[in-house]
Amino acid sequence: MLNRSRRLRTSAAMRNLVAETDLRARHLIQGHFVQPQAGSSEISSMPGISNAGVEETVRQVEKDLKRGLASVLLFGVPEEGSKTPDAAYVRDRQGVVPKAVRALKKAFGSDLIVITDVCLCGATSHGHCGLVDEEGLVRNDETLPILAEMALRHAEAGADVVSPSDMMDGRVAAIRALLDQNGFTQTSILSYAIKHAGAYYGPFREAAHSSPKFGDRKTYQMDPRNAREGLRDALLDVEEGADMLMVKPALPNLDLIWRLREAQLAPICAYHVSSEFSSVKAADRMGWVNGDQLMYEHLLAIRRAGADMIVTYAGREAVEKGWVS
Ligand code: PBG
Ligand code: ZN
Repeated sequence: MLNRSRRLRTSAAMRNLVAETDLRARHLIQGHFVQPQAGSSEISSMPGISNAGVEETVRQVEKDLKRGLASVLLFGVPEEGSKTPDAAYVRDRQGVVPKAVRALKKAFGSDLIVITDVCLCGATSHGHCGLVDEEGLVRNDETLPILAEMALRHAEAGADVVSPSDMMDGRVAAIRALLDQNGFTQTSILSYAIKHAGAYYGPFREAAHSSPKFGDRKTYQMDPRNAREGLRDALLDVEEGADMLMVKPALPNLDLIWRLREAQLAPICAYHVSSEFSSVKAADRMGWVNGDQLMYEHLLAIRRAGADMIVTYAGREAVEKGWVS
């Protein structure tokens, strides 16, 4: 007897019946770049994505929310003049992220999940994710209290989830302790547990003006040759109090998403990063690929590998163009 696998592929209805993976609006977290200035300007390498003022962001989120996109990840883009070696800007209650969080929470309350990126690179004059000493070395322990204070500012403003992306050791514990001391026991931590160094974040750094002015991030972000290291760090993050774990970038790390899933530590979030998004857009503009379909297939593969949720710049398109079920 011939084994006819094709029987289960005969019609759309049949394929739907046996489909193993779903992409739904609830799985998607839309990335936003928020600037202190009013108005907005499109990021040239990220078509459809802008650096936007707080009001502009609230308007955009309102439209997205109506279509079911109910989670956002916010990055602050401070003006060049407010950057300092010690990232003092991130401790300011009137900083752009606390302002945006307050505005979003005022407008949408518990209907919207607001996640904030916690890292210093947008606010340091040298562009590193931690404090830097005279020799140019990134100082781990000195950075922790600043990260914790930044997270506290976001929690005070009403953030549901804070998401440290700096890759300093011990930051989850430092953030959890300060949040708890201040009564923010219900604010969750989504930790960037696995975050590789490399070329994948180029368009983001253009948008956030957060490239390191010297050196690279290889002394704190992970070596892409390693997998076991990431699993170990994920375990440490959970022990320190992380509620959810991030893997980033997404497509180059489907193996790690899968292995984390099997480890059953915590919900897994995969970050479909700026260059994954931009590469699809660029190839589409060249007429070399069907960008819409390719983007959808990216997101689907990430889900199939085991991600519970995906941070993506294509969330809005997914809900507008009907890629979600
Ligand atoms: C901040 C941060 C970065 C990204 C997320 N948070 C940049 C970096 O690590 O240099 C990259 C996200 C993307 O490329 O979309 N540390
Ligand atoms: Zn950073």
